[in-house]
Amino acid sequence: MIDFKQEIAKILAQHVQGLTAEEIAPLVEVPADKSHGDYAFPCFRLAKTMRKAPQLIASELAAAIGGAELFEKVEPVNAFVNMFINKEFFVRSTLTEVFSKGSFFGSTDLGVGKKVIVEFSSPNIAKPFHIGHIRTTVIGNSLYKIFDFLGYDVVRINHLGDYGTQFGKMIVAYRHWGSKEEVEAEPIKTLLAYYVRFHEEAEKDPSLEEEARLAFAALERGDEAETALWQWIRDESLKEFNRVYRMMDIDFDSWAGESFYSDKMPAVIEELREKGLLVESRGAQIVDLEPYGLTPAIITKSDGTSIYLTRDLAAAIYRKKTYDFNKCIYVVASQQDLHFKQLFKVLELMGYGWAKDCIHVNFGMVSLPEGTLSTRKGRVVFLEDVLNTAVEKTRDIVLEKGVNAELIEETAKTVGIGAVMFNELSASRIKDYTFDWDEVLNFDGETGPYVQYTHARCASVLRNAEEKYGSLAEDEVDDSGAFRCGVSKVIARALEKADLSTLTGPAAYDLVKELYEFPAVVIEAAAKYEPSVITRHIVDIAQSFNKFYHDEHIIVDDEAERRAKLMLTAAAKQAIKNGLGLLGIKAPERM
Ligand code: ARG
Repeated sequence: MIDFKQEIAKILAQHVQGLTAEEIAPLVEVPADKSHGDYAFPCFRLAKTMRKAPQLIASELAAAIGGAELFEKVEPVNAFVNMFINKEFFVRSTLTEVFSKGSFFGSTDLGVGKKVIVEFSSPNIAKPFHIGHIRTTVIGNSLYKIFDFLGYDVVRINHLGDYGTQFGKMIVAYRHWGSKEEVEAEPIKTLLAYYVRFHEEAEKDPSLEEEARLAFAALERGDEAETALWQWIRDESLKEFNRVYRMMDIDFDSWAGESFYSDKMPAVIEELREKGLLVESRGAQIVDLEPYGLTPAIITKSDGTSIYLTRDLAAAIYRKKTYDFNKCIYVVASQQDLHFKQLFKVLELMGYGWAKDCIHVNFGMVSLPEGTLSTRKGRVVFLEDVLNTAVEKTRDIVLEKGVNAELIEETAKTVGIGAVMFNELSASRIKDYTFDWDEVLNFDGETGPYVQYTHARCASVLRNAEEKYGSLAEDEVDDSGAFRCGVSKVIARALEKADLSTLTGPAAYDLVKELYEFPAVVIEAAAKYEPSVITRHIVDIAQSFNKFYHDEHIIVDDEAERRAKLMLTAAAKQAIKNGLGLLGIKAPERM
């Protein structure tokens, strides 16, 4: 995208003494008051080198650059040169950018040559994949897409919770009360029931706890029977998890979970000892983090078993060795803030400078109106059920709206699941929020259905126009209605036949401005690890498009005007599609 500050700096540099274009660019301002122009350049700093009063410099500069194609008007006001960008030029350069990049519009090569790990989702096997996991899953998937779009080499890791003392309990419960058929029919619900039962029975009979401890110790030693049982529980759980991932079209490059690191922990513990970081405390081995205002990091418990944190230390070190990442991002709820502070601090104390490249991307809680979630008591809302409910509810809504019968099933899926995902990505991730069906599925709110509907509306406008008048760019249009990447001549020809001055009115021009911002928005989202920046922006684009659609006639008789308006429609469609794609959401052609 054309960077106006840079362009202005280049033009100014030809008339300013003592400053290069690179030095001028950061001095160019965006006035808060639009009547002072789109950009302004203060001349105070030039007074010394140019040996003139700043007011005089401003008026001379204004006269010198006023003729440039870039500007509609240039005015000196006191010591400032106020510049108004030529609207038609702005529209042309923005549309050219959208069409020449097509499905890559918004991307930059910022990340080329850099590796990023995004660790996300990471549910615990034999436990429900519940609504509480939705945020890490959807935010993580979106961050993967955003970094990938920016050229980074991204590795998606699902750090499955497939290890820990709870598997001792699970094994004992299964041996006492389990049935293979029951588990295979409905793995998680059944395993969960065993787990709940374990806790109930253990309250009456504490010896079960000891039995579970022994079973876990056997698992840690790699005893055959326990390992086989654990492996089976893991496989059955993954079958269920994968069903949910498929519904949301989410994939991973690595499924190395906690168990993967079980044989890598002794080396880490040894390293901590050698580096003099381990201290004994009531039988446990800890790293004292008091000087850093943190509670001690427990490395091994008094019975010698390792814990969650130890496995994370092993995982981080393994990942650095294996992937040599530039950044390792952990998308995990803010309940684990302390855990990650401890983890990163211990890595730092171990002398790993790359500890600073480990980033905890945290987020707030989801609650349901029905009450909070608890695995222990078995009152949980499964993510799969939420997604299925979304599809059902959407089916009802679209049936009522009278959607094309053939499309009902597909629309219900795309829109229902898209709505739930969009909702997760709407608010800043750190905010807690309550899941509310009326909000999620509101077709007129700032929601997934609204944005998808706007996309389908753009598609329909373009289809109607094409039926009546033929294609915009006679030869090269791809299925999204935008022009193929890099077909610059076709774009230039199409733009030549369009009267872009018809896009300088308020509604159209506001939309163009939103489109212009899109690439910067993607960069901002990556820098803040915050997909909601994109979510909000595509809502803005959709709203601007709908205003344009209501305020103006798009398919008018005048060919040059019609072409311009259709091109803007195609551009809005492309930006919405790319934006939704970065959220992991599909953009339907028809609804
Ligand atoms: N399995 C954990 C849970 O459900 C999340 C894992 C987070 N990642 C990590 N590297 N500790 O709470």
